[in-house]
Amino acid sequence: MSRATPITEYEKYLRVPELLALQKPAAELSCHDELQFQVIHQSAELWMKLIDHELALAAQLMAQDELARATVTLRRVNMIQHLLTESLKVMDTMAPRNYMRIREVLGRGSGQESPGFKRMLQIPGELWPTVEALLTRRAITLRQIHEAPEAHGELFALCEALIDYDQDLQWWRRRHILMVYRIIGVGTPSLKGNHSELLEKGAREQFFPALWQVRDEVFGEWTRAMEARGKSPGYHG
Ligand code: HEM
Repeated sequence: MSRATPITEYEKYLRVPELLALQKPAAELSCHDELQFQVIHQSAELWMKLIDHELALAAQLMAQDELARATVTLRRVNMIQHLLTESLKVMDTMAPRNYMRIREVLGRGSGQESPGFKRMLQIPGELWPTVEALLTRRAITLRQIHEAPEAHGELFALCEALIDYDQDLQWWRRRHILMVYRIIGVGTPSLKGNHSELLEKGAREQFFPALWQVRDEVFGEWTRAMEARGKSPGYHG
């Protein structure tokens, strides 16, 4: 496309012309809503690229015992996760009929193939050995941190930031399921068969299981102590 004005420094640095050429021109859209579909997915890939970049830094900072900075970095990741989940609300505005038009031109493409999302699922497994090594260096267990969070403020804050990542990944998946139901229904077969079963199973996945497990342990201990004193705490049966 020819342009009347020279490219500005802003456009040059951000590569705006290339970026805006990555969506179909209006005349080629299968329906009005296809631009929304492309923009939301493409921007999600960019945000997930940034998450990957930030989590690499968080791992490095943990390995260097720079816990406050690692926690700040994880908080940034968490904010991006919120943006990703919020963006699904925009997609909610697409009518089922319009998605059918897009589906016709989408081929066999599926969100499951998203490289950014695959990284988000993989990273916790790569990050966890760094957390374990940190706990070993400090000669402390997750249990000790969670029994006395005020005595281990820095480590507790870090654990909270990690479980936020996990919780918000689960939350994104649950929110995505609601959007899918709203647009294609609950029983409509997708490319991968029964999408409802597949997505609901994914939504139950935990990414830092030890951080969930330690909650059971802390509550289990408390429950036993209450029972020993003849009191029923009302949890754990
Ligand atoms: C019209 C809106 C959307 C529909 C109808 C839809 C539908 C689906 C369906 C049916 C699946 C299950 C796998 C399959 O059958 O392909 C799926 C998976 C997935 N979609 Fe979407 N999707 C939509 C929007 C989005 C958006 C906006 C994103 C990302 C920003 C996204 C990312 C994903 C990811 C990452 C998966 C794999 C989920 C997992 O493993 O839990 N989808 N989607």
